[in-house]
Order: sequence, then C-alpha cells, then structure tokens
Amino acid sequence: MSKRPIGIFDSGVGGLTVFSEIRKRFPAEDLIYFGDTARVPYGPKSKSTIIDYSIQNTRFLNSYQVKLVIIACNTSSALAIDQLKEIFSVPIIGVLEPGAEQAVRNSKTGKIGIIGTEGTINSQAYPNEIKRLNPQAETFSISCPLFVPLVEEGWYNHPVALTIAKEYLSSLTAKNIDTLVLGCTHYPILKRVIQEAVGEQITLIDSAQAIADYLDRYLRIQCEAEKEKTPGKDYFYVSDNEEKFRTIASRILNLEISNLQRVKLAESWFV
Ligand code: DGL
Repeated sequence: MSKRPIGIFDSGVGGLTVFSEIRKRFPAEDLIYFGDTARVPYGPKSKSTIIDYSIQNTRFLNSYQVKLVIIACNTSSALAIDQLKEIFSVPIIGVLEPGAEQAVRNSKTGKIGIIGTEGTINSQAYPNEIKRLNPQAETFSISCPLFVPLVEEGWYNHPVALTIAKEYLSSLTAKNIDTLVLGCTHYPILKRVIQEAVGEQITLIDSAQAIADYLDRYLRIQCEAEKEKTPGKDYFYVSDNEEKFRTIASRILNLEISNLQRVKLAESWFV
C-alpha cells in the first residue's frame, strides 16, 4: 500500500502550494500532480460541471494506482468531495476540513474571515464546517475572482495584485476578524500581498499547510508513510499549456520541472 504514489489535483498551478508542503513533509513519497489547465478556472463554474471535472481528474490519478487522492482545490473539495467518496474506493482527502479546523483552533475572538472562489463561497461549505466545530464562531465570507487569474499569469508580486487585494479585503478587516482562511489553494501564492492588505494582526490560514498537518496524522494511522532514504519522484500532468505551467510552476516551487506531460482531453478518462 505505502509504495503506491499519492495523487494530487487542482484546476491549475494553485494546488502546487499543497504539493510543495507535502513534498517537504514526505520526502520519500512518489507524488503525481494533475493541473487541469485546459479548464481553469473552476471557481465560476456550476456544481455539476465541477463534479464532472473532479470525477475525471480522480479517474486519471486512479489509473496510476494511487494510494490516496488529495483534492488540492477548495472549489472541488466544497462541491464534489461527497460524490467522489461515493464513486471511488481510493481514500479521498479534501483541503476544506483541515483549513476550517486550523482556523477554529487559531481564532481567539471567533471572528473568522473566509476568502475563496465564487463556487466555494456560494457553497457555504467553510461557514458550515467552522460553525460545526465552534457554534459560537462568526464568519464573514467574500469571493475574490481576480486572484486566480493573477496567479495563473504569474502576477503575484505585481503592484496591481496589492491594489486588488486591498479593494477586496477592506470589507473583511472592517469586521475585526483575527483569522482569515485562504480558502483557495491559489491564494497562498499571494500571501505576502494579502498579509500586507489586511495587516500583520490577522493570521492567515493556509490550507496547504493545514492539509499537510492533517496528512501527517492520516498517513501514520491509515497507511504508513514512506520511510525509505531514497527521495520520492515527482510527476506532473496538465491538460493544456505545458510550457506556461512549467514556467510558473518552476517559479512557485523554485525547482526545475521535469517529468511534465500534457494529457490529451480526448483520452479515454475524459470521455
Ligand atoms: N485552486 C482552486 C481552489 O482552491 C481553484 C481555483 C479556480 O480554478 O478557480 O478553489
């Protein structure tokens, strides 16, 4: 069981924030990353479309006999995790519950802000999970639809990113939140800009770190983590624009991306 790779998917480069945390914590694991770059962004799409895409992505990863699938996408985690768990026997882990859990643990005042894609915010999945964990908590949510294209374009240090972040986030800082959930895996890439926009007094919850903490416990309990000394291998797959992915992913991960392959939409797992 433990010799099999871990599968990770997202709509694009955002899930690399999750990939990077997992690679740091589990150096001996083989990791297969799929970025659905042909169909990014997921945020504005309907629930049924997100479910279809998520099933296809999971089917693709499953074809490599992965030992578990990590949904490194909050939109898919919010809208499709129940269906994926029903369809597939491979364990499926989403980013949402670990992020909500960490936010509740961190917040002293119980005033928690949540930012995410339109799909994630409209689903109410974060407020529901946070209130389940702390019924006293007060949540304030907004979607930030321009953040994903900024990241996919590699504009995360561009001055325009700070202007947009300030515009989006001023309504949340006015609510005196002490904790802000980055409810989209693309957003940790904008962390510096987001922290500058909200101020140092607000703690940012990075779902990538939250899921790596969770996985630490999960792998120990469910299917022993790899303990070999040989470093695990990385495999990257995208559904389009592999060169653009290579450039941005190399910057995000600070490493040369090899083992990158484009998967054709026409292949059987997509039909
Ligand atoms: N990174 C994904 C998320 O966490 C998807 C962003 C998008 O494609 O809109 O929601």
